[in-house]
Amino acid sequence: MTKDKIEKLIAQLTLQEKVDMIHGNGLFATKGVERLGIPPFMTSDGPRGVRKDFGSASWKEVGLSYDYVSYLPCNTALAATWNRALAHDTGKLLGKEARGRGKDMILAPGINIMRSPLCGRSFEYMGEDPYLVSELVVPLIQGVEENDVAACVKHYAVNNQETRRLEVDVEVSERALREIYLRGFEAAVKKGKVKGIMGAYNKLRGTHCCHHKYLFEEVLRREWGFEGIIVSDWGGVHNTKEALLNGLDMEMSVTSDFENYYMADPMIQMIECGEVNKKTALAKIDEKVRHILNVMSQLHMLDGERNAGGYNDYNDKAALRQTARESIVLLKNEKNILPLDKKKIKKLLVVGENANRQHASGGGSAEVKALYEITPLMGIHMLLGGNTEIVYKPGYYNEDIGNIWANTGDSENGQADSLNQDNVESPAPSALVVSEEKRQHQREMNEKYLKEALEAAKDVDAVIFVGGLTHDYDTEGQDRADMKLPYEQDRLISELLKIRPDTVVALVAGSPVNMHTWLDDASSLLYSWYSGMEGGIALAEVIFGDINPSGRLPETFPISEHDCPAVVLGEFPGGDRVHYGEDIFVGYRYYDTYDVPVAFPFGYGLSYTDFVMTGIRAEVLEDTVESKAVKVSFDISNIGGRAGAAVAQIYVADKYPKVKKPAKELKSFEKIYLEAGETREVSLMLEREAFTYYDEMSHSFRADAGNYMLLLAKNAEEIVDVTEIELKS
Ligand code: BGC
Repeated sequence: MTKDKIEKLIAQLTLQEKVDMIHGNGLFATKGVERLGIPPFMTSDGPRGVRKDFGSASWKEVGLSYDYVSYLPCNTALAATWNRALAHDTGKLLGKEARGRGKDMILAPGINIMRSPLCGRSFEYMGEDPYLVSELVVPLIQGVEENDVAACVKHYAVNNQETRRLEVDVEVSERALREIYLRGFEAAVKKGKVKGIMGAYNKLRGTHCCHHKYLFEEVLRREWGFEGIIVSDWGGVHNTKEALLNGLDMEMSVTSDFENYYMADPMIQMIECGEVNKKTALAKIDEKVRHILNVMSQLHMLDGERNAGGYNDYNDKAALRQTARESIVLLKNEKNILPLDKKKIKKLLVVGENANRQHASGGGSAEVKALYEITPLMGIHMLLGGNTEIVYKPGYYNEDIGNIWANTGDSENGQADSLNQDNVESPAPSALVVSEEKRQHQREMNEKYLKEALEAAKDVDAVIFVGGLTHDYDTEGQDRADMKLPYEQDRLISELLKIRPDTVVALVAGSPVNMHTWLDDASSLLYSWYSGMEGGIALAEVIFGDINPSGRLPETFPISEHDCPAVVLGEFPGGDRVHYGEDIFVGYRYYDTYDVPVAFPFGYGLSYTDFVMTGIRAEVLEDTVESKAVKVSFDISNIGGRAGAAVAQIYVADKYPKVKKPAKELKSFEKIYLEAGETREVSLMLEREAFTYYDEMSHSFRADAGNYMLLLAKNAEEIVDVTEIELKS
């Protein structure tokens, strides 16, 4: 629809009709204007697949038979693939099913930076590095939007913790804000052309992000040229006037008193009683409606032929499995314990509750009613078939203590209740009030399960342990209290390793855990995330060598939470105000610059084959103040015995920085598949962005002339080759 036609539509709308379009009239929908052919706008969560349907005014799930969907690998898993094409495939499938379910906007992806490993929603995000996030979020958005569905990148901005998330006030320098926390959003808008963005619950510099003039009007609209819809997080609006004037387009919330929403009746009353300048207010409302109609028009909701979307089919399933495969990170493989040889294993012991647990239905709004979910235990059965005896022992007892989200979906007010509890001093799950009786039961069961597992480990050909976290820990609404593995898994792993030093240790989790008590004793270690409905088979394929692992950590695994810069230099979770004292030194930018030892560095991951990368060379093709192009080339060989994929990482280090900078920063990467014995020359391009930092004086990103080291690396700690360039302008 042309801009003219949209203006004509706006001119025909009454004030009430306009207001109805800019606030929820259902928990996930706004009202349409039937007489003018404007449909309601339907939204749905979320990042791991299209969420089940709720009643329009109740959080009780409808219980449809047709809202089972593909359960996609969580965003951290996707980030661990370091594969842009898979991000596109994932987005495509998400958009297709969202459209297939009649949605107009999918409330995904989440791209908040992992500032602390304890953040409960880390699993919904893409790790700690703004460049990696930017590179993956763009194809993901494009994939979604190819289906005539809007993506909604969230949560804008600095929503980096769950503790007191509705009120917490973030203090962060402008430089850190721009370089670390906004970068992914900037890429989503400028490069991904995303059609939706969600304001965050928390405050930034004293104002709630859902009506933040600076974030919305100055940065998002004016600087980045965003033309899509700014939607509030559910219940994130607190002030009618600010919501009206500061750029929010659509208010959504968790209660069913829709006419009482801030941008509903209270807004009309505010205009009528002259509390705001009427002309300004009406112009602002028109602007909101214009943004909504614009997006509706682009999605062919107003005219033209609209993509119908669809459901998971054979190809989608293959893409999903490939993403799960490529997300698994091999962290340790001494004595080449992995892969296990199927033919040599007649009797196998699988230990660990996560081997047998499904995760799709947990985590908060990222929950999914999965078509199916293959657990690791099932995946192992599928792969080994009938010739191997597989014994399963849970090894530890998971009482299912639940979390504040546990009842969402069963109760009339599920998500609304969970928000109310957010305001209470948020109890981390391990500190949840559990009765002494329950604790005693947990202890007794743990003891029993431990004994059974150790006994069983004595006469088998191989032992695989699958433990980690669950969505009682990786969850919306709560941060973890520490990085400790729950349910006494540390003790179980240590004991298992005493009996069977060759035990394969695999962890399923959405964020890093502390492994120091047994890490030195384990010869092998695999990290799998909540990796979607094909995750269990993918893990089995990696363990038994059908697939050569190629995942790389999208975030540093610190030894413990006490090492984390948010704690050492800043505050986490802090009080009502949280000062981001670590500034730009987030993740490896800190560990690297301040020489802090970590369990596993950012970008780390092993393979069953070996790669050699050498001969880095660079050519400055363009060097003006506004534009730069540096071609970086190197050679990579697979010198091992089997095909596999390496992730070549290029970090840039300013040799004589004029301002304080991290020791180095990731500025390019490429996932490269090589047959055994194959060598290839690879060229990558660094653009101006690779050399910039945010200059608070000039309020802009600037690139200083000078000498830059270009580091070819396997991960943030392992630099394999270096070259130097000089930029003259
Ligand atoms: C979450 C959002 C989600 C919304 C709707 C909020 O609690 O923070 O990520 O999209 O609910 O369910």
